[in-house]
Formats: sequence, C-alpha cells, structure tokens
Amino acid sequence: MPSTISSSRVTVNLEAKVFRKLAQSTDEFEGYANSHAERIATLGTEIGRKFSLASKDLQSLRAAALLHDLGEATMGRDYIKRGGELSADERLDLQRHPIIGEQEVAKSGGDRAAQLIVRWHHEWWNGSGYPDGLQRDEIPLAARILRVADSYAAFTDQRPFRRGKTKESARELMAEWAGIEFDPRVVETLLALGPIAELESFARPFSEVVERAPVEREWTMFSSFR
Ligand SMILES: [Fe+2]
Repeated sequence: MPSTISSSRVTVNLEAKVFRKLAQSTDEFEGYANSHAERIATLGTEIGRKFSLASKDLQSLRAAALLHDLGEATMGRDYIKRGGELSADERLDLQRHPIIGEQEVAKSGGDRAAQLIVRWHHEWWNGSGYPDGLQRDEIPLAARILRVADSYAAFTDQRPFRRGKTKESARELMAEWAGIEFDPRVVETLLALGPIAELESFARPFSEVVERAPVEREWTMFSSFR
C-alpha cells in the first residue's frame, strides 16, 4: 500500500539521518581526520553486495558500520586518543565497547541485526576476538564483513596518535591476517573490489602527525582492538 511504503521510507530516512549524525560525532571523538564510519559503511556495502546480501541485511550492515564504535564514544575514555600503548586494564575496559555499542544502537532505533553486528564487530575468524569469542561461521557474515572493512579503513585512516598506512601495505596486512583475524573469503572480496575512492589511503606525511602527537602508537597485533 502506498501510504505504508511512504511511511516506512520516512522512517528509514529519519534513521539514516540520526545514524549519520551519531557516526560524525563518534568520528570526532575518535579523532579521525576524515569520515571513517561513512567510509566503512560504503566499503561494507560494496563487499556485502558481492556476497548478494539481501537489501534488508545491507541496510542493517550499513547502520552497524555507521554506529560500530558508538560504544567507545559513549564510554568517553581519555585513552582513546592518547599516544602510547594501552595498559592491560585499559585494554580490558575498551573491550566493553561492542556490548555498550549494542545497547546504544538499540536506543538509537537500530534493528536487532544491526545491534548484533555491532556486538560482534571485534570477533576474530580464529576465535581470539571479543566479546563472545565466536569463530568462523558462528560470526554472522555481516559482522565478518564489518571487521574487514573497519580494519582496512583503520589501517589507511589517520589518527591523532598514529599515521595511516599506504594502500599497498594495508592490502598486504589484510592478506597476512586472513584466516587469523579475518574471514579469508571476505578479504579476497575486498582485495578484488573495483577502484573506489573509499579504498584510497588517507595517510598524510608523518611530520604532520607528530606535530599533533609526539608519541606515536605503533601498530601491533593488538592494534585492531581499537
Ligand atoms: Fe570497535
């Protein structure tokens, strides 16, 4: 019925506006120099299309991508933008963000699928992730896609405490961690995507970064905890 379709479109548009606003404020809190969440949403959608996800699932994936680190912004910890490694306590504390994020997505009107994708966006293919230690197909495909899109964007985005990587070294890292952190099929799909702007690195010369943060946090195996 036309009225139902139009009212559901209004709801979708309203939600999209709310989600984009929340995504922007999360990016600001995290200190990204560019729109990280929007970038992940596009990358995730592109990968999801290659897996022929239904449009409803793509919508949930897009919402989850926009809101994936809303839990971090809600927690508002100072260590998020600080230079240097996180302490063990800080790392444990940070691991609460997907669950807090799941609750925040619910409050913001995100559907249950989006809530769960946010909950599981730090699960690892080999079961070493958090918060539930799921592995392989136990992790919904959309959450595995978000893990890959988030990590690729994190590698190539600029943070106040860390320089971005080039596209080439990000691609190498993704391939290296396929089968460990990432679903190998999802990595393969990312690496085969056509030339879209969201795949370009946002890295700036290191001199510009150190000006803002004298202590650079180097990439370690725990970097994707962030
Ligand atoms: Fe996260």
